[in-house]
Amino acid sequence: MLYETEQTTLPGLKTPEQEYRELINGNYSFSEALQILDKIDWDFKDFTTQYLTHKFHSYPARFIPQIPLTFIKLFTKEGETVLDPMCGCGTTLVEAFLNNRNSIGNDFNPLATLISKVKVTLIPDAEFRYLKNKLQKMKRYLDLDYKRIDKRLESLPNRKISRIFNRVVISKSEVIRETLLEIKEEGGHNDIYDLGRVALSSTIWSLVENGGGLDVDDLFLKKINSMEKELKKMAKIVKNHHQK
Ligand SMILES: C[S@@+](CC[C@H](N)C(=O)[O-])C[C@H]1O[C@@H](n2cnc3c(N)ncnc32)[C@H](O)[C@@H]1O
Repeated sequence: MLYETEQTTLPGLKTPEQEYRELINGNYSFSEALQILDKIDWDFKDFTTQYLTHKFHSYPARFIPQIPLTFIKLFTKEGETVLDPMCGCGTTLVEAFLNNRNSIGNDFNPLATLISKVKVTLIPDAEFRYLKNKLQKMKRYLDLDYKRIDKRLESLPNRKISRIFNRVVISKSEVIRETLLEIKEEGGHNDIYDLGRVALSSTIWSLVENGGGLDVDDLFLKKINSMEKELKKMAKIVKNHHQK
């Protein structure tokens, strides 16, 4: 399968990435598959690695997708099950999902299992509409009324976050968190609630990595929109498998 994010080149010329995809798509015996491993350049230099849901959330020391993809394609068949006992942010599980394999992931970091789950869970359009409607209503609580902001900060547990973020960022993040909790309390919207939590975590992570900026709500909404787009692309790929 070729993802649309891959490099394109002149007709008749294949990129190393296209050659790699063709190589792993062959039908090999176990011993032939072992030999294919030697033909692969494991640097995967200049390959696209942040496609589809892989870009949902940063995570330390994750595989690049082509590493688990190679083993999934060469050593498992469609419909079989892949286990990643230390799944991190779910790179292996995403590749299993994209290639019509079942998967089981485990990790002792609850953030890792949350991100992994969200990356392989397709969500109906109606749930995204429901979330965006909630976020629209949330806007009225994002004003910069410093008295209200300080009151909100007083109610937070003291985790020294005020040394990392300024009070506007903390307050806006807290409003988003409260909106998500409201969704949880309403019940019946678990998947979009989990997606919202990953989007908030990723927003905060990117504020830490890239610094600055008070537009937490704007960043958060952009994140939600981008996640929706990638899940839709993924849904098309997975649907094509089932129609084959
Ligand atoms: C490098 S990441 C795994 C990357 C992942 N396999 C992938 O596909 O990208 C390592 C993960 O192992 C988890 N881990 C380490 N020791 C563990 C243990 N004893 N039980 C469960 N998870 C563990 C860590 O929390 C971390 O998320």
